Amino acid sequence: SLQKATNVTYHRPLVDRNVRSKMMGRGRFRGCTLWLTGFSGAGKTTLSFALEDYLIARGIPAFCLDGDNMRVGLNSDLDFTDPDREENIRRVAEVAKLFAESGVVTLCAFVSPFRQDRDNARNIHQKAGLQFMEIYIDAPLEICEKRDPRGLYKKARRGEIKNFTGIDSPYEPPQRPDMTLPTNEMSVSECTQQLVDMLVTRNILP
Ligand code: PPS
Ligand code: MG
Repeated sequence: SLQKATNVTYHRPLVDRNVRSKMMGRGRFRGCTLWLTGFSGAGKTTLSFALEDYLIARGIPAFCLDGDNMRVGLNSDLDFTDPDREENIRRVAEVAKLFAESGVVTLCAFVSPFRQDRDNARNIHQKAGLQFMEIYIDAPLEICEKRDPRGLYKKARRGEIKNFTGIDSPYEPPQRPDMTLPTNEMSVSECTQQLVDMLVTRNILP
């Protein structure tokens, strides 16, 4: 186990999920995590920002945790080796769990290339009784490499970036994702609508 500190105890707060949602969430507990996984350039950031915008515009608490952004702050001590990616995903999964517990629709946009790390993120939520939805942002590598919005694939091909997902670092696609969004075949608004429909089905949106 990663537990290093001894003599630490979990304290149950006075406010539980039911009280929180009754007082703060108009009666409905919406806390959950949508986990978007896929290659760099597949559209994870774009889609999670679009869904966040949609939800906030309707007064539904939502917050996006994005790989690039988290790596500037909390995870600035981590790089792209396998163990650092694992630790990156472990930390953000724990953060997402806290956001979800607070009643927020939490949108996680991480390459998260390893199945085991994503399964661990799901387990962290499941143990807490929080809904977790794995969304495969499924754009073929060739398309992502063609898009190359920040020129990262070009750099990776030239050997200027090491351990780049899809080039010299693996990506393990989800085997049973809750939803697959082929962003090369569907528009941003079509994909966003699919995510909204899923939240309705899951009883998170009215
Ligand atoms: S991971 O694998 O989940 O820990 O990665 P993540 O935290 O999502 O960070 C991915 C973003 O970092 C940029 N970047 C790289 N991605 C993959 N491999 C390597 N080596 C790498 N180096 C930098 C890249 O902009 C990723 O952002 P997205 O939005 O996915 O393109
Ligand atoms: Mg991104």
